[in-house]
Amino acid sequence: MTTFGDILLKNEGPGPTIIPMKAQKDGVGFANLFYKDTEVGFWTDDLTQALHSTHDASLLKRDPANGAWTFKANAELDLLQHVENVMAMSDANNAAVGGDGQRDASDASVDAAKTVLRAIDTYCLGKQWMYHVGHEKGEIMKPFLRESISSFSSNADRTGRFIVVDVGTYCGYSAILMASTIKEIAPNLDFHVVSTEINPKHIVVAKKMIQMTKLEKNITVVQTGSVEAALAEHVGSNNAVDFVFFDHAKDQYLSDLKTLEENGYMKKGARVVADNVIVSETLSIYRDYVEELADEGIVTTKLIFGRLEYTENLKDGLEFTTYLQDRN
Ligand SMILES: C[S@@+](CC[C@H](N)C(=O)[O-])C[C@H]1O[C@@H](n2cnc3c(N)ncnc32)[C@H](O)[C@@H]1O
Repeated sequence: MTTFGDILLKNEGPGPTIIPMKAQKDGVGFANLFYKDTEVGFWTDDLTQALHSTHDASLLKRDPANGAWTFKANAELDLLQHVENVMAMSDANNAAVGGDGQRDASDASVDAAKTVLRAIDTYCLGKQWMYHVGHEKGEIMKPFLRESISSFSSNADRTGRFIVVDVGTYCGYSAILMASTIKEIAPNLDFHVVSTEINPKHIVVAKKMIQMTKLEKNITVVQTGSVEAALAEHVGSNNAVDFVFFDHAKDQYLSDLKTLEENGYMKKGARVVADNVIVSETLSIYRDYVEELADEGIVTTKLIFGRLEYTENLKDGLEFTTYLQDRN
């Protein structure tokens, strides 16, 4: 058996622990990982996949068929610790296998974001349900984000940066998802994500998550309950925004959308995604409103069904709305 390298594992206690790992290679790019002669995971071409399987063995307690809407005190800090562990192992293993020093910063951020998001998903599926938008609905959002970037790039009237507004940062999942997706789709696009969060405890966690992805230059987290105030400060009054993601207090989606319209942010081509429009009855008035706008030819809008994040059996949906004309 060959020595694979040392895996750095951060503990709850003081200081990190170094675990010597050994690997039994079976062809190029595949190895079983052993710790003290026990197989603890595997290494494929996708190192992070192996690391997840290694680390998550201890996590498999939650059954995704239940446990939705349960909130535990300090779960966000426990999640942060988990993600830091996964990232530390990922970094240690990249170093152990001689990591690719040639990758540019943009690629490295995209890779780091994927590792962070996957670690969050694994934690929420395996240990504690939380309300990040999650992988499944995240994938549903990506084509709409791609469409938004194309429309921005081909709109001669739209100058300046591509602006994303993420309302309800929580631990930073959706902000990281959108920023890393943009970097992957359009590496040269000048863009910024303004992410608003009312709860300062969540902001501490979100900022650390974002730091791990090195996307700080592209994401500003603003502590506020007022999207209007955040935009006035970070985008400028009467400027345009390109992509809005509503995932905060359900009784504020409609009033916030109207505020964005009244303040001239919603120009032709702007897109809005509203999460939880099926699980939340409150959001029926939001959907009624965008459907009225569609009847008037001001927007197009469509509902796409998915499942509530980290569940197998609860239906949810996202409303995707595109402005066909300037609105104010
Ligand atoms: C469902 S979570 C957001 C999840 C996040 N978008 C993600 O995918 O990871 C909702 C968050 O909205 C925050 N929130 C509630 N009302 C808010 C408001 N008016 N403005 C900003 N954030 C708000 C809550 O504190 C909570 O962190």
